[in-house]
Amino acid sequence: MKLLSGIKPKNLLQICNDGSHTIISESFHVTYHSIHGAITESNVVFICAGLDYFQSKNIREISIFEMGFGTGLNALLSYQWAEKHKVKIHYHTIEAYPLTDEIISKLNYPEKLGDRLVFRRIHCSDWNVMVPISEYFVLYKYNSEIESFHLEGKFDVIFYDAFGPSTQPHLWDIPVLSKMYYALELGGILVTYCAQGAFKRNLRIIGFQVESIPGPPGKREITRASKMAEDEL
Ligand SMILES: C[S@@+](CC[C@H](N)C(=O)[O-])C[C@H]1O[C@@H](n2cnc3c(N)ncnc32)[C@H](O)[C@@H]1O
Repeated sequence: MKLLSGIKPKNLLQICNDGSHTIISESFHVTYHSIHGAITESNVVFICAGLDYFQSKNIREISIFEMGFGTGLNALLSYQWAEKHKVKIHYHTIEAYPLTDEIISKLNYPEKLGDRLVFRRIHCSDWNVMVPISEYFVLYKYNSEIESFHLEGKFDVIFYDAFGPSTQPHLWDIPVLSKMYYALELGGILVTYCAQGAFKRNLRIIGFQVESIPGPPGKREITRASKMAEDEL
């Protein structure tokens, strides 16, 4: 594992208000999800505001890029969404600091959501190669830092799930966000739990159309940003 500080990070499990686990990062001093509910938050921000919204266009194949693979919760929920809707998902996800097997094996997501074997396969699959998980879900995990990563191809939906602006300010600034903009298809969307003003201003400067939408418990608003075709502006 690559470490920012050179010190082996310890991560601790915490139960959120909805009964699902999150992780406390001792390197970054933050939790991976809202303590109001990891599963609840992921469902509202990424599945409802992201996939359900995008699917209203009735597209049969969707390419996703996730910033921050973390616990694999968003990946598992996206797999379940793909199976339910019979829409093929190409799920690309990047992670600089993969979690240990020990902590992954303790996460209660399979207990809460089912698909224990799929969750295991998502975690055990190799990095930096294409791994078909099912007819409807193809996984590509990249073990790299986003800052130096060359994003190949275009994506329909970006799950922007970095640690927040007070923890990793540069990940919410124009250089990295511009990378996201160029990696999106026209008509594509970026969704995130973050609703910070400076972040939304950065998105607008880059060219995104920005919407604030109601968030999960504990979060009044979240953000959806669209890359519009010129005739839609
Ligand atoms: C908020 S957590 C992501 C939660 C995750 N989406 C999930 O479903 O559990 C942020 C993640 O970004 C990772 N990360 C932090 N800095 C990064 C960087 N520069 N490049 C890539 N990943 C990074 C962290 O290790 C962490 O796993």
